[in-house]
Amino acid sequence: MSVLSGKKILLGITAGIAAYKTASLVRLFIKLDAEVKVIMTPASKDFITPLTLSTLSKNPVHSTFYDKEEENELWNNHVDLGLWADYFLIAPATANTLSNMANGTCNNLLLATYLSAKCPVYFAPAMDLDMYKHPSTKESLTKLQSFKNILIPATSGELASGLVGEGRMAEPQDIVSFIESDIISKLPLRGKKVLITAGPTYEAIDPVRFIGNHSSGKMGFSIANVAANLGAEVYLISGPSQQQIKHSFVHRIDVVSAEQMYTAAHKYFKDIDIAILAAAVADYKPKNIADQKIKKKDATLSMELEPTKDILASLGLIKKHQFLVGFALETNNEIENAKSKIKRKNLDAIVLNSLQDKGAGFATNTNKITFIDKDFEEKSFELKSKIEVAKDILDEILLKMI
Ligand code: CTP
Repeated sequence: MSVLSGKKILLGITAGIAAYKTASLVRLFIKLDAEVKVIMTPASKDFITPLTLSTLSKNPVHSTFYDKEEENELWNNHVDLGLWADYFLIAPATANTLSNMANGTCNNLLLATYLSAKCPVYFAPAMDLDMYKHPSTKESLTKLQSFKNILIPATSGELASGLVGEGRMAEPQDIVSFIESDIISKLPLRGKKVLITAGPTYEAIDPVRFIGNHSSGKMGFSIANVAANLGAEVYLISGPSQQQIKHSFVHRIDVVSAEQMYTAAHKYFKDIDIAILAAAVADYKPKNIADQKIKKKDATLSMELEPTKDILASLGLIKKHQFLVGFALETNNEIENAKSKIKRKNLDAIVLNSLQDKGAGFATNTNKITFIDKDFEEKSFELKSKIEVAKDILDEILLKMI
């Protein structure tokens, strides 16, 4: 999955011959599941039609403050457009637009939106080689970069004038790859390894039966997804679960029993930066597993159970640099029990869900948590979707790790 998936991209097109390539650019963004809106300078419409871009982006294309063709002369709010975008890309960016951007000139919708946008702004210059080399263009590039706008450098090659040199707009695929790499390099969990346990464990009774629980794995998988989106390399150790995850940063390790989860967690823990143990691990397992299916008899059946290894506590014993987070599912005296787990298992934080909260806990799509750190500072959150809860948990961890 691309970091651009689900993101809102505003594409600003100015009047250069490379504008014809923006049709491919829009296609590439759409293929990555991004949402695209296009703003054109009036003169850029000589190079590519708004209809093409509107068809490809599945959104109306704006180029003036008023859409005069519309019955009500619809006002295109540059502030709304600027705030809508997660990323603003200006491609091709002509010498004229670069100079206007650098000097705060605001005589068209694109420039007004540029001044209103709060999101990262990328710009891909395109012009003839002597224009690209000109000191005033160089000055614009330097000034825009000092505003933290991100330059996607022009490349060398044959130019529309027939001259050969630097000034060609980067190719659409290279622009997309540049933006993806830039976003990834700035993600808060970039370079961090995160271990997550998720789902239930099954403890075998005989070849066909087991002791299990109702955990769906949704909470742990949501944390894995969000951590990967924040740039982490994720090791997701999952008990039996129907959940799916498709993310190039996530390594999924499937296990069945508590013993297998313990072994997998210890295998990866040494190199991990953050470990979040969200699995509902069985506390007990049958002392002896029957080789054959246990036959029904009239008498009652007793089974001797022995404790499983406590994975969280065992990691607490060996942890060095790792930030270790446990989950606590409590039914009574919740905060006190959760705090005592922090001490007992040597944790950096615990995520408490109370089974008394409606919509929280197993097999639901929502959860309601209290995040408690090792100094017993508590933060309670509203009932939210598990993805939103996962974001809150990782935000809290990032705050504590700084
Ligand atoms: N946990 C674990 N290994 C176990 C049991 C639990 O790693 N064998 C982890 C869970 O993943 C969770 C945390 O311990 O992060 C708390 O689990 P919970 O069942 O609430 O607590 P317990 O320590 O088992 O204590 P109790 O059942 O007495 O509340």
